[in-house]
Amino acid sequence: MLLKNIHIVDNQRDLLGDVRIKDELITEVGANLSTENEEIIDFSGKNYYLLPAFTDLHVHFRDPGLTHKEDVNTGSHAAIHGGYTAVNLMPNTKPTCSSMEIVKDVERRVEEIGLIYANQTLSMTKNLEGKDIEHLKALKKGEILFVTDDGKGVQDDHLMEEIFNICKEKDITIMCHAEDSRYSATDMRIAENNMTFRDIKLCEKTNGSIHFCHVSTKEAIDAIAAAQARGVRVSCEVTPHHLSATGDEVNHYRVNPPFREKEDIDALVKAIQDGVVCAIATDHAPHTAEDKRNGSPGMVGLEVAFPLCYTKLVKGGFISLQKLVQLMSTNPSEMMKLNKGEIKPGKLADLVVADLDNPFIINAEEFQSKGRNTPFNGRKVFGKIVHTISMGKVY
Ligand code: DOR
Ligand code: ZN
Repeated sequence: MLLKNIHIVDNQRDLLGDVRIKDELITEVGANLSTENEEIIDFSGKNYYLLPAFTDLHVHFRDPGLTHKEDVNTGSHAAIHGGYTAVNLMPNTKPTCSSMEIVKDVERRVEEIGLIYANQTLSMTKNLEGKDIEHLKALKKGEILFVTDDGKGVQDDHLMEEIFNICKEKDITIMCHAEDSRYSATDMRIAENNMTFRDIKLCEKTNGSIHFCHVSTKEAIDAIAAAQARGVRVSCEVTPHHLSATGDEVNHYRVNPPFREKEDIDALVKAIQDGVVCAIATDHAPHTAEDKRNGSPGMVGLEVAFPLCYTKLVKGGFISLQKLVQLMSTNPSEMMKLNKGEIKPGKLADLVVADLDNPFIINAEEFQSKGRNTPFNGRKVFGKIVHTISMGKVY
């Protein structure tokens, strides 16, 4: 297949040209490629952009057990609809993903659907109870990429120190949901900051490494930047939603960590510009309308992430499109050890075609996800995903 006359943008390239795809790989990139006996899609006159398809480090598919909210099938379709071809799934399912059997089962079921690639994370403590880590100790090196207790932080300092040591030995990345639960009911800013500060200290002490999820406060991101400057191995992600609204603007729509203040957003944007943030991750957290009424935190993200980020960060003049590609594709793909995230021969033909010119209104009724929970319904944005190409197949 040959994609012709499209703006090709990745972390390194920015050219008007053509891309050839054979089976599931990119084989050639250039201006005016000669045509062979193949399918041709000509984008002349459209002014569309071809980007590497996105990779999301932080997704809840709710499968197994909470499939009234989402399942591997609707989740896969939501991903494709939003321009994502790879996701990293959180373990707060029912049962909790605390065993390799569940990891493999979820990954196999996503693979069978055939739309996207999924990596399933393992819970850091058994059943997210913050106590037992025998299942971690039993892991073989290389068996798992990420562990996380997302949704909660590990409250016990000594246990957390032990986790750092085990993960260092087994080459596992800790994904930290930073929340000191002593403050969850009273001060969610202190809750996030406290645990971020503690985990940076433990990371330093153990000479380990850690990735902070959905960083949302100025104090936390500043501490992460300072730790990086000292050479501590900390990385972090921010979400599209924390960048796109203050609490006041969305009537304090419930999510953990909560929507913050303008000063926080400014600090996150600056950290993105400074290279402190390695990825934008959605924390796609589908819930039913009833669960939302009963206070479940979170919102769907896969199908609004690119337009929200493109509108805020690129249209807003803070970063280039190439930098956004790095944050949404190149860097997270590298963290997940995937052969994607750049548009060059030998890489997977995982791509998106985007219309960056025409504004549109976010309409949750059009989502493929079972979740319609978003405070951004009705928002005017730029950056519509026209097609997602996954392993050479056009959707
Ligand atoms: O808002 C959130 N929702 N934050 C989390 O950390 C968990 C997530 C969920 O699972 O619903
Ligand atoms: Zn979380």
